[in-house]
Amino acid sequence: MTKYCRNTAFIGLLTLNLIQISVSSVVSVGDFNKDFYMTWSPSHVNTSADGRARSLKLDKESGAGFASNEMFLFGQIDMQIKVVPGYSAGTVVAFYLTSDQPNHDEIDFEFLGNVTGQPYILQTNVFADGYGNREERIYLWFDPRKDFHTYSILWNLHQIVFMVDWVPIRVYRNHADKGVAFPRWQPMSIKTSLWNGDSWATRGGHDKVDWSKGPFIASFRKYKIDACVWKGNSRFCRGASSTNWWNKDRFSTLTWTQRRFFKWVRKYHLIYDYCQDNKRFQNNLPKECSLPKY
Ligand SMILES: *[C@@H]1O[C@H](CO)[C@@H](O)[C@H](O)[C@H]1NC(C)=O
Ligand SMILES: *[C@@H]1O[C@H](CO)[C@@H](O)[C@H](O)[C@H]1NC(C)=O
Repeated sequence: MTKYCRNTAFIGLLTLNLIQISVSSVVSVGDFNKDFYMTWSPSHVNTSADGRARSLKLDKESGAGFASNEMFLFGQIDMQIKVVPGYSAGTVVAFYLTSDQPNHDEIDFEFLGNVTGQPYILQTNVFADGYGNREERIYLWFDPRKDFHTYSILWNLHQIVFMVDWVPIRVYRNHADKGVAFPRWQPMSIKTSLWNGDSWATRGGHDKVDWSKGPFIASFRKYKIDACVWKGNSRFCRGASSTNWWNKDRFSTLTWTQRRFFKWVRKYHLIYDYCQDNKRFQNNLPKECSLPKY
């Protein structure tokens, strides 16, 4: 179920709003048919009869993808994903927010497949004002092919937090006051896709998609959209009200417990951080790299 923020004062809608509140506080399992449309190759998308599970297929003909009907400005999006099982080298599963504007903002989860028995890489990236190049990579502490896990994006005025089963794996802080671009004006839609990325994804493009091992299937279920629906006016989405809980002080930085988990991920699971790649940036690392994350 989608809980939309209610940026209206019309009494006439009050009853409807109350219904939405009561429903959304109980149900967190969404209906893909209701909240999303297919962006690419509907013949490669399979949705369960109740709309609560959806899979994408990649074969020689095509990959596939879907996107949210609405756009959002701040909130938290959770998606349960089970990536391509078995041999998945060269495949990429993406779950991301994007603004689709010329100077676009984007918040990405990308799962890079591997040959059988070798680990996936989870790559994340942040684009702000059309500029990305902020890749981070981790090995997960579990095999994402075996089960569904929850991947979340918390996005508010203060920070973007990427979470895996509620463990913060990455933080991108709003340092706009220090001249660092931060996605904060453009609404974004929620997108997913499964595609052939074998020119770069696995061991730098070394391991290719083996079509004889296909079709490749990635599965999605139990998403939760708790975000401010874009109605053309950013003022409401930027305020801290009880519906816009993500803008409250409590969510402006990681909690003490989250910091401990975050440090654990960075210490034991991080394999690449653009902020440590002096060679790539010729000893001129982006400004945010020297600023605190919390
Ligand atoms: C579609 O999904 C259902 C369950 O969600 C599954 O039983 C069925 O085999 C799938 N069909 C195809 C063609 O993948
Ligand atoms: C695939 O496995 C190899 C060998 O263990 C590893 O070096 C690589 O990081 C893994 N992941 C990807 C996406 O290349």
